[in-house]
Amino acid sequence: MARLIIVSNRVSVPLPGGAHRAGGLEVALAPTLRRHPGVWFGWSGKVVPRGEVATQTIDQLKTSYVVTDLSEEDHQEYYNGFANRVLWPILHYRIDLAEFSRRDLTGYFRVNQHFATELSKILRPDDVIWVHDYHLIPFAAEMRARGHANRIGFFLHVPFPAAEVITVLPNHERLIPLLLQYDLVGFQTESDVGNFVRYVISENRRTSGDARIFEATEHQIVFTHGGRQTRIGSFPVGIESREFERVARRAVRSSFVRDVMRSLGNRALVIGVDRLDYSKGLIQRMEAVERFFASYPEWRSKVTCLQITPKSRSEIQEYHELEEAVGSAAGRINGQYGEVSWTPIRYVNRAYSRSALAGLYRSARAGLVTPLRDGMNLVAKEYVAAQDPEDPGVLILSRFAGAAAECEWALLVNPYDTEAVAGAIARALDMSLSERRERHSRNFAALSQNDLTTWGARFLHSLKQSPGMSIGTEPPRRRSSA
Ligand code: F6P
Repeated sequence: MARLIIVSNRVSVPLPGGAHRAGGLEVALAPTLRRHPGVWFGWSGKVVPRGEVATQTIDQLKTSYVVTDLSEEDHQEYYNGFANRVLWPILHYRIDLAEFSRRDLTGYFRVNQHFATELSKILRPDDVIWVHDYHLIPFAAEMRARGHANRIGFFLHVPFPAAEVITVLPNHERLIPLLLQYDLVGFQTESDVGNFVRYVISENRRTSGDARIFEATEHQIVFTHGGRQTRIGSFPVGIESREFERVARRAVRSSFVRDVMRSLGNRALVIGVDRLDYSKGLIQRMEAVERFFASYPEWRSKVTCLQITPKSRSEIQEYHELEEAVGSAAGRINGQYGEVSWTPIRYVNRAYSRSALAGLYRSARAGLVTPLRDGMNLVAKEYVAAQDPEDPGVLILSRFAGAAAECEWALLVNPYDTEAVAGAIARALDMSLSERRERHSRNFAALSQNDLTTWGARFLHSLKQSPGMSIGTEPPRRRSSA
C-alpha cells in the first residue's frame, strides 16, 4: 500500500504524556494521519550550528516522523527571513511590512533543496506527497529536479492575494510559477483560487508562456503547461465540530473554567484567541473594545473581554513591536475604564490547551474573531462548535477571514471599522435567544458538512485524479507526460 508523506515546516511530534503544541496545521492534519500510514517530514524545531545539522526518525503508531534541523543561517534567512518577513506579510496584504533581501531568498531555496535531498533518501516511487504552506512553494520543483515522478499536492493554509499584491513580491516570476510543478494546488477559498488563476493567466500572457486551461469544472481548474497538468481547487479546512462540542460540554465543568467564570462574577465574557500576529487585527480589536465601552456605558462593569494571545515569531521586529503596542492598548483601556473591582480587558500571552479553550468558548457570550486577513481561522469555527445549542453565544467574525464563507450567520464585520465592531459587540450581547439559536444552528450545520476527515479525503481524492499513483487503491505506475 502506498504511503502518504506529509511535508511541512512545523512537525508536531507527539510528546511523552500526550501534550503537544496544537497550531492550525497540526490540528488539520491529525485525522488524515490517523487514517493513512505514512511519514510526516519537516523541521525538527531545532536550530543548530551548521556542522551539526542532523535528520532523525521517530516512529509512533502508524506515523514515522522524519525531522531535520536548521542551521542558524537557514533559520534566519528561510524562516525568519523570506518565509515570515516577505511571504507572510505579502500573502496577508501587508506589503508595507515586507522586507526583501536576495540573501533570504537564497536561504529559502537552500532549505527547500535540503528538505528535498533529505526526503529523497527515504522516498519510494509510489509514495504520495502532500506539501503544506508557504514555506515550501519550490519543494515539488526540487523533487522533480531529483527525478521524482511521485504525485505531489500542495495546500496553502494562508490567503493567496490579488495579482496586484502578489506581483509586488520581488522575483515572484521565479517563485510562484513553481507551484505548477505540483499535480494539485489547493487553497482555502474560491477567492484564493480565483486570485491564483488570474495571476497564472496574466503572467502567462506577459511572458508568452505555454500554460493553458485544459478543463474548468464548477470547483476545479486544470492547467496544462510544459507537458504536465496541474489541478487547482479550493479545500476549506474544517474542524471536527461534533467532537469539539463534546469536548466543550465536558470542559465547562472543569475546575479551570469554573474558576475563571467565578472570577468574573456575573459578568458576561467576550473572548478572543489569536496568535500574536499583525494579521489578526489585534490593535483594531482593542480600539473596537475601547469604543464599545465609550459608546455603550451601560455595559461598563458588566462585561469582561478576555484576549488570549500566545506570542509567536518573537525574533522578528514587527512581532516585537506588536507585542508592545497590544499590551499598551490593553493597559490604556483598563486605566481609562477599569475600576478596582473590575478589569475591562484581561490580556494574557500564555497558550492554553484546546479543551481549556473549548470550555471558555462555551462560556463566552460572544467570540471576537476579527483578523485583517486570514486564510481560514479555526478559532471562529471552534467557537461556533463549542456553543450550547440551547443557549449559544454569538460569533463576531471578520469578513476577511476564510471562515466567513462558511459562517455566514455570524455577525460579519469589517475589522478596520472599529465603530461597527463596537456596535456588533453590543448587538451580540443584546441578541434575543431565538436569534442566537437560529444563527448558531445555521452556522453549525454549515460546519458539520465539512469536517477535517472530509477535508483530507477530498484533497487526497483530487490528488488521486491527477496522472500518477494513488494511495492504496491502484498499482504503482510511472507518470507519463501530459
Ligand atoms: O496560518 C499558518 C500557520 O502555519 C498555522 O498553521 C500555524 O498555526 C501558524 O501559521 C504557526 O506559525 P509558526 O509555525 O511560524 O509558528
